[in-house]
Amino acid sequence: MSAAAVVPIARVFAPEALGTDVHVRGWVQRSRSSGGILFLHLRDRSGTVQVTGKKDVLGPDVFDATSHVQVEGAIEVEGTVADDPRAPGGRELRARTVTIIDAGNPFPIFQEQTEEFRLDKRHLVIRSSEHVATFRVKAELLRAMREFLDLEEVLEVTPPILGGNPAEGGAEAFVIDYFGRPGYLSQSAQLYLEAMLSPHERVYSLTPSFRAEKSRTPRHLTEYQHLEVELAWCDLEGLIDFIERMVASFCHAVAERRPAELRALGRKPEELLALQAPFPRLPYDEAIARLAKQGFPVTWGSDLGTAEERALTLEEQSPLFVTRYPRELKAFYMQRSPTDPRTVEATDLLAPEGYGEIVGASCRETNLDSLQERIAEMGANPGDLEWYLDLRRHGNVPHAGFGIGVERILRWMLRREHIRETTPFPRTPSRHTP
Ligand code: 4AD
Ligand code: MG
Repeated sequence: MSAAAVVPIARVFAPEALGTDVHVRGWVQRSRSSGGILFLHLRDRSGTVQVTGKKDVLGPDVFDATSHVQVEGAIEVEGTVADDPRAPGGRELRARTVTIIDAGNPFPIFQEQTEEFRLDKRHLVIRSSEHVATFRVKAELLRAMREFLDLEEVLEVTPPILGGNPAEGGAEAFVIDYFGRPGYLSQSAQLYLEAMLSPHERVYSLTPSFRAEKSRTPRHLTEYQHLEVELAWCDLEGLIDFIERMVASFCHAVAERRPAELRALGRKPEELLALQAPFPRLPYDEAIARLAKQGFPVTWGSDLGTAEERALTLEEQSPLFVTRYPRELKAFYMQRSPTDPRTVEATDLLAPEGYGEIVGASCRETNLDSLQERIAEMGANPGDLEWYLDLRRHGNVPHAGFGIGVERILRWMLRREHIRETTPFPRTPSRHTP
């Protein structure tokens, strides 16, 4: 057996590969035999190729063993590249030798199975072409986000995930036993990012965030990837400008770099390329008026839930900023609006077509008394946030920031019905395994 170097399967389809010998390896996607010839589809990270194996070439033993390799079994093949119009991509690999790495057991995943079963077998289901495409788009999205932030001179930092106080209010925090004391899984890195502002001015982190929300909705996970940015010397206009440039930038980058995966998942890359900043802005007051006119039972002070967010964006092609929410609806750290003390300098970015909130953003309260008042109203133990209040005592400057739910972005980008399809091992109220 020759010791030719292993090449990616995609190489088989290069013009100059025709007639040459290649050595590939991967996983069998499907296999059938007819009249002494085996037809296999072999997949590696670069692509899929049809492999044909003849009994008289391989010899009866290898032929027989190869014909028993299961779907998702692993093999190596050396053979000759030939044109064949009937094969996918018009090429096939005619095997001279096959080495079985793992013949595998019968693969238990089929199309018709229930969603529950497929979630139990998630560790195998994620080999599906849909998941492969999804996680390649996700990787590209994360890369594009980091590239944008790098160009904007925002420094990546690494806040803790375990902490002694919940960042976004206690109700939705997972509490753990931290050597006999309560510990909390991070809901947001924001408070730590604020602490890192003074030396760095612009910081971001990409961390898992945890939300103990019992709500079973198609847009909530209990663990998700949270990209958070904090910017010194920034007001609401500056923040909105930053967010819309960032969103347009990563949508364009993903469309340019992963068009085939997007198309395979049912999203035209052209639609993402057409997104342009600035995005429309809608003050909360006007959102309420619009919703009331549509028959929603809302008044000033009502929160915007899934149905309301959906109604506001169903007809939109562009994401929409809803600005200046009532103070009571939002977190303690948000800055009171100088123009209307009933509201805060905050905005949520809603995805078009009814997908709902994808970014939560605000200017941070710099007034120590206001902050203390809100912390007291929340019923939080003031001592727990004393370290955070210290930030207002030493070089307290205007600043603002936001958090993006990576899976929320992807759900909209790929128009997935449920957010769990955007993460390999979804964590929801009913499931934290596999
Ligand atoms: O609006 P949220 O709760 O804001 C914060 O946590 C801020 N401290 C962020 C900051 O300013 N640094 O969450 C931010 C984003 C939401 O807009 C949404 O995209 C996502 O996080 N998110 C979730 N994604 C999936 N599952 C959940 N349960 C989510 N909760 C929030
Ligand atoms: Mg929010």
